[in-house]
Amino acid sequence: MSPVNLGTLMGKTTETLAAAGIEAARLETGLLVEHVTGFGRMAALGAPERAIETAASAAVAKLAARRTRGEPLAYLIGTREFWSLDFLVTRQTLIPRPDSECLVEAALANRARLPDRPRILDLGTGTGCLLLALLSEFKDATGVGVDIDAGAATVARANAERLGFSDRARILCGNWADCLNSGTKPGEFHIVVSNPPYISADEWPDLAPTVREFEPPRALLGGTDGLNAYRQIAGRLPGLLAPGGLAILEIGARQAHQVAEILKFEGLKVQKPLKDLAGHDRCLLATLKKHDI
Ligand SMILES: C[S@@+](CC[C@H](N)C(=O)[O-])C[C@H]1O[C@@H](n2cnc3c(N)ncnc32)[C@H](O)[C@@H]1O
Repeated sequence: MSPVNLGTLMGKTTETLAAAGIEAARLETGLLVEHVTGFGRMAALGAPERAIETAASAAVAKLAARRTRGEPLAYLIGTREFWSLDFLVTRQTLIPRPDSECLVEAALANRARLPDRPRILDLGTGTGCLLLALLSEFKDATGVGVDIDAGAATVARANAERLGFSDRARILCGNWADCLNSGTKPGEFHIVVSNPPYISADEWPDLAPTVREFEPPRALLGGTDGLNAYRQIAGRLPGLLAPGGLAILEIGARQAHQVAEILKFEGLKVQKPLKDLAGHDRCLLATLKKHDI
């Protein structure tokens, strides 16, 4: 590969991505090139003649080729923004989705009902994005994030560290709330948040290939009807929620009714679903029955 300058590298990579049908080819190129060389789109506009080492342009070409085969950009550059925070992501973690920010918004909208120093539990924490976004908003809160995947728990711990929350966040590896048994009291948490796997067996073949082939199935698949995780989590909520505490669950766009029924069966009171940016039902709030929302 002959030496190139920054402007040429940007141009060629944009062409490669655009030819593969990637809509935001220019934007993604900027991020890929910046990831490898340290110089992004603004640098390329200011000094397109800047020489780029052959090894660096070869590394960009390799990443661009992976991108054209459908691998998500976040896995290639190793980070994704959520709630204006920068999260490390790996193939062991789901890539945080903007729609999940409605869970953080729901917690903020209920700020008035929380005591000082609220305690937060995030079941299926992945990158830790929900827990750490909440800790960024509730400055005196502490929290626990749980994930069954040891790789994901390691990433969540690294995110807590790099975002400056490791003194307020504890990350555990285990099956939902089972790993809390030692060291937590019943009714310990003022917020229990979860974005569990909720894709059903029927929906799996229709998922975008970039999701189905690259993101961890354990983060996506919720059993035959997509509801297994809700059944497991709902049964634990009455023992986890503090009086007046709030459960905030992400749901699939057509699951509001079924998940509400599962929560009600466990004796919880459920609010009508909140919608995501696209107007789909995305979030259910529940409390212990005697404590109104
Ligand atoms: C949809 S992802 C959500 C990740 C992150 N909270 C987010 O919103 O981006 C679901 C997460 O639940 C974890 N998970 C699946 N089954 C679990 C279980 N039985 N116990 C704990 N975590 C589990 C997965 O490993 C995955 O990280």
